Amino acid sequence: VTGEPQLRTERLLLRRWREADLEPFAALNADPEVMEHFPALLSVEQSAALVARIERCFDERGYGLWAVEVRAEDADGAGGAFAGFVGLEPVMDERLAFAPAVELGWRLAQPFWGGGIATEAAAAATAFAFDALALTELVSYTAVSNVRSQLVMQRLGMRRDPAEDFLHPGIAPGDPLAPHVLYRIAAHARR
Ligand SMILES: CC(C)(COP(=O)(O)OP(=O)(O)OC[C@H]1O[C@@H](n2cnc3c(N)ncnc32)[C@H](O)[C@@H]1OP(=O)(O)O)[C@@H](O)C(=O)NCCC(=O)NCCS
Repeated sequence: VTGEPQLRTERLLLRRWREADLEPFAALNADPEVMEHFPALLSVEQSAALVARIERCFDERGYGLWAVEVRAEDADGAGGAFAGFVGLEPVMDERLAFAPAVELGWRLAQPFWGGGIATEAAAAATAFAFDALALTELVSYTAVSNVRSQLVMQRLGMRRDPAEDFLHPGIAPGDPLAPHVLYRIAAHARR
């Protein structure tokens, strides 16, 4: 079915991407605060290419990083606001000790921080991964400095083993963004 898979939570719609998402997505990918823990901002073209990659992943694998929409209060549900992405991404980089794996990821525009949206959406993505896809484990990783993202991982019940901390192979070893933490959650351990 076109538009599938689609997930609904109390406040959110996790859906496939639309043309209208490209502009607000490019804006958040160009926001230095949103991208503080990444090596670079994304141009409009890079942002659109990322959406194309995400959509290809949905087509090929049946999962991906969903566009997150905060559902409108009105009965017809029209006019929801695009907040960013939350979802699932394959980790295929063989330089990463934990690959292959499926990663939980999130990136929201700043006005949508501080309301539990990332955690609510990620909990729905986790349930989909374990129930619909029958995956046995999910990982999540981020720069040590990205405390907000680690708090989402902890709220989801994910666990970090400091022995699995790593230097990101795509970032220069001396760069403060290189040290990363790895969190995991197993299907049998979710709460
Ligand atoms: C990482 C990111 C998604 C976290 O967003 P967030 O809004 O802090 O995360 P949550 O959705 O879990 O919301 C938690 C906050 O909402 C508050 N909150 C309000 N209602 C809540 C609810 N129902 N449930 C949970 N938290 C709630 C919490 O108290 C917390 O607020 P605080 O930050 O003031 O302590 C966001 O900061 C972001 O997009 N960052 C840039 C991109 C990025 O770094 N992505 C990760 C790369 S690995």
